[in-house]
Amino acid sequence: MLKLAPALLTGFVAMGGWAVVTVKDLPEYFVAGQQYTIEFQVRQHGRTLLSGLRPQLVIESAATRDVVIPAVARSAAGTYAVTFTAPTAGQVQFTIRSGFGNSELRLYPQTVVAVGGSRPAMAARDRGQMLFVAKGCNTCHVNSDLTARPANQALTVGPELGGRHLAREYVVQKMKNPASQIMPDLGLTDAEAAAIAVFLSGDRAAASGR
Ligand code: HEC
Repeated sequence: MLKLAPALLTGFVAMGGWAVVTVKDLPEYFVAGQQYTIEFQVRQHGRTLLSGLRPQLVIESAATRDVVIPAVARSAAGTYAVTFTAPTAGQVQFTIRSGFGNSELRLYPQTVVAVGGSRPAMAARDRGQMLFVAKGCNTCHVNSDLTARPANQALTVGPELGGRHLAREYVVQKMKNPASQIMPDLGLTDAEAAAIAVFLSGDRAAASGR
């Protein structure tokens, strides 16, 4: 499984490079009309934090035409922030254009609730699946367990993670301390790592636990 990486990587570099976008603190849902600031990082080949880019957030929703909002650089290397107002209640589609070549990250559709509306509780497995894409894992790892995967470019830099039933402790350990030349530590919180581990374990019993 590990031996495929070097040859493929050489190919991708020749194609002009690619980047991993990692969203920080993605809310479980948004409230219509409220302002949000979302931070994200861009890493070339998943490793080198890239400063000096001009990333953009593209917002698609039924209510409005596509909105494109430029992100601003934060002082930390390769870190950007974008501020926007959540559209009316319904589904909203966010895409982050990294500004590095054509590399972009399309998230799962996000839920926008009305002010005072009911707040959907998200099962750990679904949260984990959403974060698997939003953190950039899917940029390097194909995963056949993803439901209605957002249409992102799929690279096979790391092993396929679908149908593997990986032990949760092993997955958390790997995220927190990849000890790898290729897989980065993306700085996930414990709660984020735990949700992704539930998703990758395929553990239905834990799927509704929080
Ligand atoms: C830049 C590419 C890259 C990114 C981004 C990345 N990985 Fe990996 N990952 C790898 C590679 C390459 C390996 C296998 C070699 C190694 O361990 O270094 C790996 C190994 C793994 C393994 C061990 C698989 C096995 O067969 O034992 C798990 C689990 C894993 N990654 C989960 C994740 C998760 C979850 C994320 C997102 C938080 C993530 N990876 C992000 C490249 C990446």
